[in-house]
Amino acid sequence: MKIAFFDAKDYDKPYFLEEGAAHGVEYKFFETRLTADTVSLARGSDGVCAFVNDDLGAPVIEALYEMGIRVIAMRCAGYNNVALEAAFNRIHVVRVPAYSPYAVAEHTMALLLTSVRRTHKAYNRTRDFNFSLNGLAGFDLHGKTVGVVGTGKIGRIFIDICKGFGMNVLAYDKFPGMADGFTYVSLGELFAQSDIISLHCPLGEDTYHLIDEAAIAKMKKGVILLNTSRGALIDAEALIGGIKARIVGAACLDVYEEESDLFFRDFSGHIVEDDVLARLISMPNIIVTSHQAFLTQEALRSIAATTTKNLLEIAESGMCENELCYRCGNLETCKKSRRERCF
Ligand code: NAI
Repeated sequence: MKIAFFDAKDYDKPYFLEEGAAHGVEYKFFETRLTADTVSLARGSDGVCAFVNDDLGAPVIEALYEMGIRVIAMRCAGYNNVALEAAFNRIHVVRVPAYSPYAVAEHTMALLLTSVRRTHKAYNRTRDFNFSLNGLAGFDLHGKTVGVVGTGKIGRIFIDICKGFGMNVLAYDKFPGMADGFTYVSLGELFAQSDIISLHCPLGEDTYHLIDEAAIAKMKKGVILLNTSRGALIDAEALIGGIKARIVGAACLDVYEEESDLFFRDFSGHIVEDDVLARLISMPNIIVTSHQAFLTQEALRSIAATTTKNLLEIAESGMCENELCYRCGNLETCKKSRRERCF
């Protein structure tokens, strides 16, 4: 089985090579992202393996279908970049629903601690033999209130970590589950009462710009915003406004609305054209990491294993537990309410 692997990076190649060799899957790596301009590279392959910033809009799916490709394996959990209705009944789309939720939750806490205790500034100072403590005062997390939006796999692990720090946990979820040691509240209450807000819900029509000017206006002065989910959950210009108005005390962003042309690549020798990102990065109370929350050895191994298994299952039986629901909109045939899928 030959799979065209787009947006390939040095860190994921060894894991996919090992899994592929063990199961007869030949991954052909392309460093370029999958776009309408690069889709022809997939010709001759049996399937495509793509990541969060690849373009899987309707034109690309159409082109893949035309060249006989019948499976797209997303090597990630999120799939907001896939035109599901265009794929319905034509190309199977599979994903890795969970690989290491711990990786993302732990990175979220790492960002929070770095921001609150100014570790990044201290590191740079002491390398310069500057041992002054001026401007490094932080605050205790113990006793603070954290508001978690999205209590799925990652959100719940982050909640447990926060409870370990002695924090009070509020949560909001569109589909709330059991509240184990935390309290579900409305989104408005969460905004109003939280010292720290962490986003762990998916990006969709109802969560696009969940954090906008109106939401920020409801927040506590000095609130810390954490986003390790998807960039467009936050209106980045509204965030800049909230920081300038001194409502947002700090923000830690592993994801950014316009990241697809920038993240995962080295622009250190270039002038970055994105003024919003440049403004955010220039602020002393913003920390940006480039979508690295997932990046642990455990997660990479698990992503490669599940992706390979997904591809083999589709090739062998046309069925896979990790196939997506295509939101086909056909109420007659859709079994989504029962099985979360319509095929
Ligand atoms: P999950 O599916 O286990 O949990 C998502 C939760 O969000 C569910 O409880 C769901 O009910 C809730 N939700 C859905 N719509 C909502 C809404 N409108 N408002 C509030 N809550 C809503 O997903 P998981 O594994 O916890 O991942 C969460 C997100 O993390 C993913 O959607 C993905 O975007 C992001 N992610 C980021 C990574 C990174 O490297 N930065 C890596 C992996 C995932």
